Amino acid sequence: MKVLVTGGCGYIGAHTIVDLINNGFDVVSVDSNIRSTTQLLDGIEKITGKKVRNYKVDLCNLEDTNAVFHENRDIVGVIHFAALKAVGESVHEPLLYFQNNLTSLINVLKCVKEYNVPNLVFSSSCSVYGNTTALPVVEETPLAEAQSPYARTKQMGEKIIEDYSRVNDTQSILLRYFNPVGAHPSALIGELPLGKPDNLVPVITQTAIGKIPKLTVFGDDYNTKDGSCVRDYIHVMDIANAHTKALQYLIEHRNESNCEVFNLGTGNGVTVLEAIKAFEKISGVKLNYTIGPRREGDVIAIYANNTKAKEKLQWEPKIGIEDSMRTAWQWEVSLRNKVLSN
Ligand code: NAD
Ligand code: WQD
Repeated sequence: MKVLVTGGCGYIGAHTIVDLINNGFDVVSVDSNIRSTTQLLDGIEKITGKKVRNYKVDLCNLEDTNAVFHENRDIVGVIHFAALKAVGESVHEPLLYFQNNLTSLINVLKCVKEYNVPNLVFSSSCSVYGNTTALPVVEETPLAEAQSPYARTKQMGEKIIEDYSRVNDTQSILLRYFNPVGAHPSALIGELPLGKPDNLVPVITQTAIGKIPKLTVFGDDYNTKDGSCVRDYIHVMDIANAHTKALQYLIEHRNESNCEVFNLGTGNGVTVLEAIKAFEKISGVKLNYTIGPRREGDVIAIYANNTKAKEKLQWEPKIGIEDSMRTAWQWEVSLRNKVLSN
């Protein structure tokens, strides 16, 4: 069974391709490499022994996108990861985010319709919940105002798919990821931020390796157990496996409606300072960090209720914060070793 993965050269797409292949699926990828290189495809091949074809196509170009679907009429589903995801950038470049994330989605849906693709899985985000205080969040928690244009593209993307699914035969799943972290245990694929990272875990590993001089903890005066923000850090291979499970769920017609939504988190809230401690413990590296002011737009705390995904998708997150940090660190070290050996 063949699956079309958009954004397959990116962080979560690449890990998902590995899990799909390990579960017997064939995969083709579409990625314009606007925010990636083809490096992770080499890692996928080393891990799985399978060479994955990537079509270097901008999904905002309908004609080119259509040509990929035309060539792959035998797919059982599409997993749509491709999007721009930098929250801060989206605040300064809202039109870029609306144009890219929504046009690409609409083009994918047009092709899904034209080629009668039966199943669709969409990358959504916990950012759709906005500044919610109802914790842990369940899928029914009302979506508050989006805190960034990026988050708004995810809220709108969900609605577009919901409306589309109401009047078309495609079965869809919206997966709301919490904070994906870590890397494949082989250290052959991992997160590869182009330029300066914003997310906590790459900032931690890049500080520890010396690429960044110092980490700033954005605030320690919140009303949380140690004053720093709380998040639900979930290993990327657990996220990846949920996509395989979601696709299998749709293929086996176990879904109850044409469009279902699932939270993908561990259910555990971890503070920034606890994440740093976990990293220091597994790496033996003392991290150079200071406490700085709060970051604009940060929610104080958010973590998932993941019962629905556990029960319906028969999915279980297996990897905790320490192993998440360990694999992220091993990946960072492998990147350095690669540079040193060149
Ligand atoms: P990523 O940037 O590593 O991968 C996204 C890939 O999509 C990139 O390789 C990029 O080149 C490609 N892409 C973007 N626009 C494209 C277009 N128009 N045509 C073709 N390719 C295009 O990001 P990721 O972390 O792997 O995220 C994957 C998805 O998950 C995104 O939709 C993101 O919004 C969502 N998500 C990510 C996180 C996170 O923290 N990483 C959390 C929640 C949701
Ligand atoms: C985590 C915590 C920071 C960097 C973002 C998106 C969200 C989703 C996941 C896509 C926060 C703190 C961070 C640093 C710090 N992505 N931090 N120093 O903001 O929870 O979520 O990624 O959908 O939409 O908003 O993730 O990794 O940036 O931050 O103290 O240098 O780490 O304040 O509390 P965030 P993050």
